[in-house]
Amino acid sequence: MIDSPDGYGIVSRFFHWLMTLLIGWQLLKFGDRIAEGEHWVGQTLVPFHVSIGVLLLVLAIARLGWAFSQSHQRPVHDPATAFFVRAGHGLLYAGMILMPLTGIMVMLGGGYGVTVFGVELIPEAEEIAWAEALGSLHSPLAWLLTALILGHIFMALFHHFIRRDDTLVRMA
Ligand code: HEM
Ligand code: HEM
Repeated sequence: MIDSPDGYGIVSRFFHWLMTLLIGWQLLKFGDRIAEGEHWVGQTLVPFHVSIGVLLLVLAIARLGWAFSQSHQRPVHDPATAFFVRAGHGLLYAGMILMPLTGIMVMLGGGYGVTVFGVELIPEAEEIAWAEALGSLHSPLAWLLTALILGHIFMALFHHFIRRDDTLVRMA
């Protein structure tokens, strides 16, 4: 269940791979740019964007708490690069928290309210200018997170195929 210096336990791996899947799904929202959403990509893949996004916020907070509770017993990194690894993972966490928060701001800013899997959490209301301003960060942050994730995947594959260490295996 728990992490050890030899590898990540089931809970950490469950968070990591479930959220990889859901965040990957969320990024398909870029597909709305094809024919202004009037395309099967936008029409079939995107409808649950708000619901899955709010679910991801809950998962990200739980995962962050779990990561803190395990930090003293997780695999240790090469001291030469440990700072960059920690900074990279920290930025990924920042993205996982800020994406849903700014997404919620898009909805509040536009006065749409927030409905999650059919349950209305925040009803429709007046438009809110400051929320709209914060919501305008949602798209630029999505591009930054995408770049960060691509760099993260590149490093995982670099460790596995070039440096041939157990970095990928201990998370897989
Ligand atoms: C980890 C969570 C999330 C990710 C990765 C994500 C990702 C994205 C991406 C990639 C786009 C397309 C941006 C573009 O084409 O420039 C987008 C747009 C949008 N997202 Fe999210 N999102 C997340 C959470 C949320 C949440 C929780 C909400 C609402 C409660 C939300 C509401 C929206 C809305 C309304 C748009 C269209 C408006 C816009 O482009 O500014 N998102 N999101
Ligand atoms: C949405 C996509 C992803 C995000 C947000 C993400 C985020 C993270 C974070 C925050 C960590 C630190 C451990 C933790 O707290 O869970 C981590 C570790 C790791 N991730 Fe990802 N990850 C993603 C996708 C991937 C993919 C696709 C791969 C494989 C190709 C991968 C391989 C790894 C490996 C090997 C580790 C362990 C690194 C180490 O021990 O230094 N990740 N990931």
